[in-house]
Amino acid sequence: MKIHAKEHRVLGQRDPMIYGHFIEHFHRQIYGGVYDPGNPLSDEDGLRTDVLSAMRKIHVPILRWPGGCFVSSYHWKDGVGEKRVPLFDKAWRVEEPNTFGTDEYIQMCRKIGCEPYICTNAGTGTAEEMSDWVEYCNLENEGQYAKWRIANGYEEPHKVKYWSIGNENYGWWEIGAKDEKEWGRLTLEAAKMMKHVDPCTELSAAALTDIDWNVNLLKNCGQFLDWISIHEYWDPIHETNDGADYDACMAYTADIGHSVRKVRGLLEAFGLEKKIRIAFDEWNLRQWYHPKVHCIEQGVTKEEYVVPRNDNDINSQYTMADAVFTASFLNMCNRNCDIVGMANFAPIVNTRGCIYTYPDGIVLRSTYHVFDLYVNYLGDVVLDTWQEDVPVKKMKRVDGEIVEVEQLDVLVTSFSDHAGYAVAAINKSADEELSFTLELDAAGAVTVDYICGDSTEAYNDVDHDGVVIQHKELGAFESGMTITLPPHSVNVIRIGVEEA
Ligand code: AHR
Repeated sequence: MKIHAKEHRVLGQRDPMIYGHFIEHFHRQIYGGVYDPGNPLSDEDGLRTDVLSAMRKIHVPILRWPGGCFVSSYHWKDGVGEKRVPLFDKAWRVEEPNTFGTDEYIQMCRKIGCEPYICTNAGTGTAEEMSDWVEYCNLENEGQYAKWRIANGYEEPHKVKYWSIGNENYGWWEIGAKDEKEWGRLTLEAAKMMKHVDPCTELSAAALTDIDWNVNLLKNCGQFLDWISIHEYWDPIHETNDGADYDACMAYTADIGHSVRKVRGLLEAFGLEKKIRIAFDEWNLRQWYHPKVHCIEQGVTKEEYVVPRNDNDINSQYTMADAVFTASFLNMCNRNCDIVGMANFAPIVNTRGCIYTYPDGIVLRSTYHVFDLYVNYLGDVVLDTWQEDVPVKKMKRVDGEIVEVEQLDVLVTSFSDHAGYAVAAINKSADEELSFTLELDAAGAVTVDYICGDSTEAYNDVDHDGVVIQHKELGAFESGMTITLPPHSVNVIRIGVEEA
C-alpha cells in the first residue's frame, strides 16, 4: 500500500473553524456542566475552570450556542439584565432558569478565546427579535438594546460576527417548524434586518441536502448568506441509546462526504459556491439520547423523558469507534476545505460531548484526544493525497446495508508558517495492523502521536484512562519509508517539523 503527496499539489488551507464546537441548553451541558456556580472548581462567574482549561487546550475556535432545538422557543430578552425570567422550555420540556444568557455566554467565549456563534430563534421568534439581538450585541450605543447592554455593564459591543438563522426548522420535531416557502420568506426578512443592523455579520441559515428546501432558501436569501448550515448525526439512537458497534460505526464512514457533494452541487447550480460555505454546525457520530420527548403521547412522565438523559453520560459508551469516526469526519472536512469552513462538534460538554464533568473533575473522552491531535499536531495546508492498493472491507451498516470501507484514511498536510509535514493516518481495521509506504519529498525526524487504546472498546472514565495520546520516534525520514499503524488507531505522523 502506497500513499503519495507532493508539496505543490495543495488542495487549500483549512479554516481552523472546522475544529469548532457546540453547546446547548440541554440537560447538563450548561447548568451543572460548564456553568456551575458554587462548585469549588468554578470561578467568580460560575464557570468551571477545569472545563475552560480543557477547551483552551484544544483551541476551540468557535462555539455555537444556545441551541439546537432549545433555541426555537427561546427569547433572548428573558436571559439578560437584572431580572431573569424563567421559562418552560417547550423543546426539552424542562424549566429554563435563564441565569445563563447572552452576557454569560460572551464572557465564557472570551475566557476560552473563541469566536461566539449565536443561533437565533426562527421557530417562535421573528425577524425583528433576531435583529434586536444583533443590536444588543453589536451596536455601539444606538437604540434601546445597545443601551440595555451598556446598562448591564458591557460598555463595549460584544462584536458577534457569526449568526445562524434558525435550527433545523425543516423538521417536524422543531418548535415552529416551517415549510420551504415560509422558510425562504422568513430567512430573507431576518437576514435583511440583521445585516441592516450590522453588515459585518456573517449569516448562516438552517438547511439540509433537500433540493426544494435549498431552492427556496437560496433564491430568496442566497445574496445575504455567507454560510449554509447542515447537521449530521449518523447513529440514529435518540430513542434507544443502543449504539452501533465498532464495525457498524466504520460502515458509516464509507460515504462520510455525501452531504458535501450534494450541497456543493446545489451551491454550484446557483453560482454561489464561492460565496457560501458549508457549516456543519452540529455533527457527531451518535444522536443524543432523549426518548419520548418529541411526542404528545398521553401519560408520559418526566421520569420517562428527563431521567433517561443521564444515560448519555455513561462514559464507557465513548470508545475508539467514536474516536476513529471523529477523525474520519475531520479528514473529510480538511479535504473539502475549499467549501467546508466550519464544523461544530455537538456538543462539547456532557451528553455526547468530548468533555464529561462531575463535581470533582472532568473526564476527557476518546474524541477529545482526536481534537487534541488534529488541532495541536496537524498542519493547516491540505495537500492532495492519493493512495494505491488500500485494503477494502465489506461492512454492515445498522440498517443492514453492506458497504465497502477503505480501511486506511490518510491525509498529508504542511504548515504555512514553518517547515515540515504532518500526516493524519487512520487505521479503521478492528484487529489488523496496516503498513504503508509514504512517497513524499521530505526530510527530518519522524515522530508519531497516536491513540488506539487496548481494544476497539477502550474508553476513559473517572479513574480509568483507556485512551491516551502516546508518542513514538521513528528516526530519519526517507521517501518510501514504511509506516505501520496499530489497529483501530488515529495517528499524526510528523516529519521534519520545525516550529518557530
Ligand atoms: O438531539 C439533539 C439535537 O439534535 C439538537 O438540539 C438538535 O439541533 C438536533 O436535532
